[in-house]
Amino acid sequence: MVRIAVLVSGGGTNLQALIDAQARGELKNGAIAAVISSKPGAYALERAAAAGIPGYVVARKDFSSNREMTLALVDKLRELDIGLVVLAGFMHILTGEMVAAYPNAILNVHPALIPSFCGAGYYGLHVHEAALAYGVKVTGATVHFVNEEPDGGPIVLQKAVEIREGDTPEALQRRVMEQAEWRILPRAVSLFCEGRLWVEGRTVHIKED
Ligand code: GAR
Repeated sequence: MVRIAVLVSGGGTNLQALIDAQARGELKNGAIAAVISSKPGAYALERAAAAGIPGYVVARKDFSSNREMTLALVDKLRELDIGLVVLAGFMHILTGEMVAAYPNAILNVHPALIPSFCGAGYYGLHVHEAALAYGVKVTGATVHFVNEEPDGGPIVLQKAVEIREGDTPEALQRRVMEQAEWRILPRAVSLFCEGRLWVEGRTVHIKED
């Protein structure tokens, strides 16, 4: 069984999608062992508690840099014997020490079709504002492995979502979550835990069932 840690910073709807998938038996060979929040009081911690999952806080504000926070997180993950790290609405850029500790074992969900609308500064609602400002007709979500480059690691799964006339960033964010993020994140986590993903260069191969 792969022990999974979910790193969060806010509301945690993607965490909830993982908890619900686990309850339906859809995280095969994986178990959510910990939820770690960068913000004390994040609603995601309440979701964890309601599901009986241990919650921890490694608060960004307690550290002088992303690197210091990253080192504390790596210590915590090792202590908890974590095999897969999932960034689910985690709003900070982790430094190289995390990637070195968990090579091709960190998944991130991003609310756009990478390589569009990604990288430093593209997070949360900003991503959807940028997609609408550009005038694209299709956006979506991506689950990818984390490497040293923000949003730059090998892509595991993507799902497209159509832009509608009159969309606001908030409406689009909600639809991308419902139609894409909440579906592909649990799927990617399960594929990892089942040992069905392997990485060759930038390409992630998926072993058939
Ligand atoms: C989600 O849309 C997630 O993809 C995005 O923030 C939201 C968090 O929602 N993450 C990023 O932008 C990271 N670059 P949630 O807390 O309800 O899961």
